[in-house]
Amino acid sequence: MFLKRLRQATSGRHRALECQLPLLDPRLSRQSYHRIVSRFFGYYEPLEARLLSLPWWHEIGVDYAAERRKTPRLESDLIALGETPEALARLPRCAELPAVASIPQVFGCLYVIEGATLGGQLIGRHLQAHLGLSPASGAAFFNGYGVQTGRRWQAFGATLTALVQRTGGEDDIIASANDTFATIDEWLFPTSGTRATHR
Ligand code: HEM
Repeated sequence: MFLKRLRQATSGRHRALECQLPLLDPRLSRQSYHRIVSRFFGYYEPLEARLLSLPWWHEIGVDYAAERRKTPRLESDLIALGETPEALARLPRCAELPAVASIPQVFGCLYVIEGATLGGQLIGRHLQAHLGLSPASGAAFFNGYGVQTGRRWQAFGATLTALVQRTGGEDDIIASANDTFATIDEWLFPTSGTRATHR
């Protein structure tokens, strides 16, 4: 089963991110949470703009634009946390995004950003308990798709499995998923210099 192989092939990178992000730490402050949301915004905003400009959505079979965009949730969280629209427009954006030049690469990238909604369920409960944040007051992004999360993950998994059965591309999907994890990691926890673009 390809999804299982994909999970195994990326689990090291998932674990590394999970360990570095203090989202489930009982000492998480509102300020450091705000910083984390700003960095996620700086990654997802340019990535989703690039994804949505791709011409092959009818072949991909995922209605990303209508159902799955996460940038609006990050924007509303940042506004709820006290950012102004002007400050939001000036936040640094990631310039080292994963390559999405083929359908397998798009699926590798989507696997990571759709899968992140699963951990979001756990994180959402923690943010409510420790910071008193609900989806309406600054925790919409980490609540994923709310009660729809499981159903949407199943639907995405079925589309991905069908694609692989039809056209292969397993190794490219795995490489792209790992590349996506690596670029998020580097953006959230830079090892050298700054890789941001400013607007
Ligand atoms: C503190 C941070 C995080 C926690 C606690 C967390 C936790 C989890 C949990 C509980 C699952 C569900 C596992 C299951 O149902 O089998 C999951 C799945 C997943 N998470 Fe995370 N996660 C975190 C951060 C992230 C981030 C930042 C990303 C990527 C941007 C990510 C990507 C994924 C993916 C791709 C899956 C799906 C794995 C699969 O079933 O194939 N996670 N995570």
